[in-house]
Parts: sequence; structure tokens; C-alpha cells
Amino acid sequence: MSKRSEAMKRVQELVTDDPHTVAGTRRGATPWDAGECQPPLREIISSGELQLPNSGRALVPGCGSGYDAVYIASTLGFATLALDISPTAVKKASEEVSASKVDNIRFEQGDFFFLQVTETEKFDLIYDYTFFVAIPPSRRMEWGVQMSKLVKTGGFLITLAYPIEEEEPQVPIGPPWFVRPQHYHDCLGNDRWQKVVDRVPETSSPMHIGRERLLVWRKI
Ligand SMILES: C[S@@+](CC[C@H](N)C(=O)[O-])C[C@H]1O[C@@H](n2cnc3c(N)ncnc32)[C@H](O)[C@@H]1O
Repeated sequence: MSKRSEAMKRVQELVTDDPHTVAGTRRGATPWDAGECQPPLREIISSGELQLPNSGRALVPGCGSGYDAVYIASTLGFATLALDISPTAVKKASEEVSASKVDNIRFEQGDFFFLQVTETEKFDLIYDYTFFVAIPPSRRMEWGVQMSKLVKTGGFLITLAYPIEEEEPQVPIGPPWFVRPQHYHDCLGNDRWQKVVDRVPETSSPMHIGRERLLVWRKI
């Protein structure tokens, strides 16, 4: 078995459709942990191509160990909520944050689908990396509805689509579930969202080359 298939098998063993019963959560294992911020996130933020405000609020659902959330909080200065349903992830992420000394970030254990915000608490930016592919496909439309509720008008949703495999598995197995960039579009639609970026990132970590796509959506 290739190194890549082994890693994928390990994720599938650990993450189930019910993240409350994630085996890895009990054992403290988080095999998807990249150990650093995703290069395409750095790329899109540092390019300045998104007209982001000077201050604002950000959400990172399914934040895992929180490297990306720390990057967003420290680089953009946004008050950042990093949310994960797994207590192990939140514990690890909180440790990461104490080490980074970033103070405009809050880690919370919670379910994305139950997150409620008032009009003034809506987010300027939400970032989804491997959260979409971790939830059961039957909940993807709900994901889209919830994103529309959480992002303010004019705000951005950055989705880093990964892992894009060449072929759909004969027997659907997951997570990570099979994903195509179009799947995000299907859940967000044209009425509420305008796609403002759709490209292969110039910078990907070595194992991700040829398997990811950067899509950014602006709330209309
Ligand atoms: C594949 S991991 C990706 C973690 C992180 N984005 C990273 O790159 O390291 C998916 C994460 O989503 C979390 N998750 C799954 N369902 C969730 C839900 N309904 N609400 C919040 N987090 C959830 C899992 O606990 C897990 O940490």
C-alpha cells in the first residue's frame, strides 16, 4: 500500500460519521495534522487579492490543531473563533495557541451545525479546510445553509478543496468523503454566493500537489 493510501486508511479508521465517537479522539490521535498552516491559505491571504477589512471576525470550523486559525488571527488581526467537536482537537489547539501567544483567538468545543450568531456577530471570513469532507455527504446541503447564515453580506468563505482524487471510489467510503470543487458550488449556489477565486494553488504541501483547489466565495 502506498504511503498516501495508508494515511487515508488511517483517517478512515479514526474519523466516523459521528465525531463524538471518533476513535482518534479517545486515543489522542489526529493523523490529518499537518503540523503547520496550509500553504494555500498563506498564499491567498498574503496575495492581498481578497478585499478583507482591517478588522473583523473569523471562524474556522473543524479547526483541528488550529494552525490555520492561529495564522488568520495573527496575520489579519481578526477576532477568531476556532471550533471543533473533538475535545482532543480543542485541547491540542489551545496548547498551540498558548505557545504562539496570539490572544485574539478563542478555541471552543462545539458542533458547527448548532452554532448560532446574531446579526452583529456574523463573520467576515470563514475558512474550511477538510471540514467539508469530514462531514457525512448527506449533511452537505445543511453545511451550505449554515455557511449562508454565518457569513455577513460582503464577507468571504475560503474553501480549500482536498483531497481531490482522480476517480470516485466504487464503494463510497470515508471520511474523507469524495469531493469535487463543484460539490461546494452545489451546496452554496449562485443566489447567495459569488465565486471570486477558483484555481489550483501555486503553493501546496508536497503530498497535496495535484490534489487540491482553492475556491473563495463572497456572500452577496
Ligand atoms: C479531517 S479533520 C481536519 C482538521 C483541520 N482542518 C486540520 O486541517 O487539521 C476534520 C475536523 O472536523 C471536526 N468536526 C467534524 N464534525 C464537526 C462538527 N459537526 N462541528 C465541528 N467540528 C467537527 C473533527 O473533529 C476534526 O477535527
